[in-house]
Amino acid sequence: MSNIIVAGATNQIGHFLLLRLQKAIAISRQTYPNTDNITWLKIDLKTEILPLETPSKLFYSAPLPLLPPLLERLPKTTLLKRVIVLSSTSCFTKENSTDFNEQAIANQLIQAELALIKECQQRNIAWTILRPTLVYGCGLDKNITFIANFIRRFGFFPIVGQGSGLRQPVHADDLAKACIQVASSENTINKTYNLTGGQTLSYRDMVITIFKFLGKKPHIISISPSLFKAIISCISWLPKYSHLSTAMVTRINQDLCFDHTAAQHDFDYQPRKFMDLGL
Ligand SMILES: NC(=O)c1ccc[n+]([C@@H]2O[C@H](COP(=O)([O-])OP(=O)(O)OC[C@H]3O[C@@H](n4cnc5c(N)ncnc54)[C@H](OP(=O)(O)O)[C@@H]3O)[C@@H](O)[C@H]2O)c1
Repeated sequence: MSNIIVAGATNQIGHFLLLRLQKAIAISRQTYPNTDNITWLKIDLKTEILPLETPSKLFYSAPLPLLPPLLERLPKTTLLKRVIVLSSTSCFTKENSTDFNEQAIANQLIQAELALIKECQQRNIAWTILRPTLVYGCGLDKNITFIANFIRRFGFFPIVGQGSGLRQPVHADDLAKACIQVASSENTINKTYNLTGGQTLSYRDMVITIFKFLGKKPHIISISPSLFKAIISCISWLPKYSHLSTAMVTRINQDLCFDHTAAQHDFDYQPRKFMDLGL
């Protein structure tokens, strides 16, 4: 029996992973009390090493650039046998962004994926990279939850133009389930998968679905790109809005779609539809 280690245990994917796992070691920089099935370890992945006392599998959804140096600190013969890593389709959608910060994030992801594959090859660790689209599920995300909180507070939601760009929001629990399915499937070793949600809908319809989930009549205000950019420039220095960028404005009308057929084929990936929303 392998030990299961979960890094990124306190984010939305980690939350659902811990609910699904019978037994696991969970890593955080904070201290948490152990439960019957979860042993919490306070570890900073930037500077410390993984707790490897027996052959182990790692579910990794912490920041990806921390992973290659963490693997580099392992000996060539390591008890880490398998890593299932969460990256992001942002490495495609933000690669040519007009926002330099977004471009840098995409490049960091691409470089980190390549470096992690190299480190795994050198240590004979089987790897799988999962690239989700927009993740939501337990109120910890900055996309769907941001829209829901905005609607709760102001009763309307602003959209640039028609909001016609297609989206495929994916529930964090579907990703947690995917991690577990991948870990027990030989088919998935040394492969990368794009993981989308089970429904493709326009940004506008995504917002309308959130209104309906909140029991509110949809009230969408269409505003001009220049006004939207001006508003974002004014508020994005506030920590609460720091994830907003003017490049998002153009993306609202762009399709950000991927195909999960390979995941369906290799490990029976069956994500839920967004209309079956749970926030
Ligand atoms: N959010 C999205 O819409 C989205 C979209 C596509 C892909 N993804 C991918 O999904 C994954 C999760 O994303 P997320 O936005 O939900 O979470 P996130 O904010 O990227 O995750 C933060 C997690 O990483 C841990 N962490 C960060 N630095 C650490 C360190 N130095 N040492 C130990 N742990 C550290 C945090 O633990 P503590 O704070 O408890 O220490 C926390 O559990 C990421 O791989 C992301 O690329 C997310």
